[in-house]
Formats: sequence, structure tokens, C-alpha cells
Amino acid sequence: MNSRWEPIVQTVSPLCPVGPGGEREDGAPILSRISATYKLRMANPWLGIPLEDYEGHMSLPDVGQLPVLAELFRCALEYCRPESVAVLGIAGGNGLEHIDCSVTERIVGVDINPRYLDEVRRRFGALAGLELHCCDLTGRNFSFAPVAMVHAALIFEHAGLGAAIENALALVAPGGNLSIVLQLPGAAEQGVASTRYASMQSLKRDFVLIDRDKVRRLLGLKGFQLVREENRSLPAGKAFWLGVFA
Ligand SMILES: C[S@@+](CC[C@H](N)C(=O)[O-])C[C@H]1O[C@@H](n2cnc3c(N)ncnc32)[C@H](O)[C@@H]1O
Repeated sequence: MNSRWEPIVQTVSPLCPVGPGGEREDGAPILSRISATYKLRMANPWLGIPLEDYEGHMSLPDVGQLPVLAELFRCALEYCRPESVAVLGIAGGNGLEHIDCSVTERIVGVDINPRYLDEVRRRFGALAGLELHCCDLTGRNFSFAPVAMVHAALIFEHAGLGAAIENALALVAPGGNLSIVLQLPGAAEQGVASTRYASMQSLKRDFVLIDRDKVRRLLGLKGFQLVREENRSLPAGKAFWLGVFA
């Protein structure tokens, strides 16, 4: 749902000519004859967004989300005091300055965009115990040694709740925490605001607001309970919700 899937090779049976409306002459939809060898290529829109555009957009006075996300990360760290943490969708490392290395000795940063991770390494390479992994949170091969706290801020809106939340949960060590930041629905414009950073508009198509009650129910079924929550209002009538689950 959150990635564009483009056909590279289509193999259609030559025995079934195509009618004027794109259907087979016997009336069946042509897609039913497309071979199982149909190949797919995934293009995540985040790969096309320079970090300067993302951070510039998020820091604009009318958006104002970057410092709030960093502050919510600080709240989660202070509450959980984890000896290890994973930040899913770490972007440029927003909030890593709040990590107390005397408490948190292993820091795992994950992002799909390798250029973002290069910048995290440049900014925070001196942080002891920093590990950076370029991988897709929705992928099948998402597997790391578990951590005491997984922080997933404004990522499920882009990656969806399916495989992404399963992968996030699999990363939580026994007795650990999952910390989630979601954008709340509001009266104002939802999703990605229109600003001078045109590249950010490519995210609009896949952005979906996530219902926090649905997340609570889903995590409840997996044995995770909400133990702490925070709300923060943002410019333009938007708001963030932090939920820490144990
Ligand atoms: C809105 S930003 C996250 C903000 C950040 N967590 C913070 O608190 O400032 C979303 C990040 O998730 C990354 N991302 C999006 N889809 C992803 C996926 N499927 N797998 C891994 N990272 C992904 C993007 O590259 C981007 O850095």
C-alpha cells in the first residue's frame, strides 16, 4: 500500500487476443491472463527526498514538527531508560542528542534511505554503540538483535500497520517497550502540508493517518498495554500523540 509497484515484464497469452476495451475477446479481464512471472519493482518515495528538504519542511514555522518529535523521543527515553534503543525511520537522527550514553549503550538506527544514514553517521558517529541499518521496515528480512525500547515516530503513517508493526514488535526484547508517535486527526489539512519543498509532495499519495485506538487494540492482542501517553499540539491545527507500550 505504501510503495509504488511497477510492472517490468508482462507476459500475456498470445492465444487470447485483446478486445477494444482491453478485455480478452472472450470477455475475461486481461489481468487474469497475465503470467505469474510478472516482475515487480518497488520505489519508496522517501528515496527521492533530500534530507535537507525533509528537515527544512518539518522545521518551517507552519509545520514545526521536528522539535516536537525530538521532545517526544526524550519523553520516551526518560520514561523507559532503556539500555538499548532502536529508532525506526531515523531520518537525520532527530532527537539522538537526548540519548544518555551512561544509560543507553546500544543505539540502532534504521532507515530505508542510505543517504539519511550517511548524515546520521556524520552527525552522531561519536555516539558510542551506534549501529545504522539501511533496510525496509516492511520487508521480510528485517531482523536484528532485540532492544529494550523500539521508537517508531511518524513511520506507520508511511509504512502501514501490517508488516511494519510486526517487524517493530519482533525487535522488542522481552520486558521491553514499544514507543509510537502518531499524527492525530484534526480539523486542519491532514497529511503532508504544502510548502516550498516540492519533493515532499510525493509522500502525499501514500500517507495514511493511523487510528491510535486501533493501534491500542492491535497491540493489546499482542500482549502490549499502554503505560504512558502524551499529546502535543502543532501549528496549523495538527497534533501528535506519543504512546509507550509495555
Ligand atoms: C517522518 S520521517 C520519521 C521522523 C523521525 N522518526 C523523527 O522522529 O524525527 C519517516 C522516516 O521513515 C523512513 N521510512 C519510510 N518508509 C520506510 C520503510 N518502509 N522502511 C524504513 N524506513 C522508512 C523515511 O526514509 C524517513 O526517514
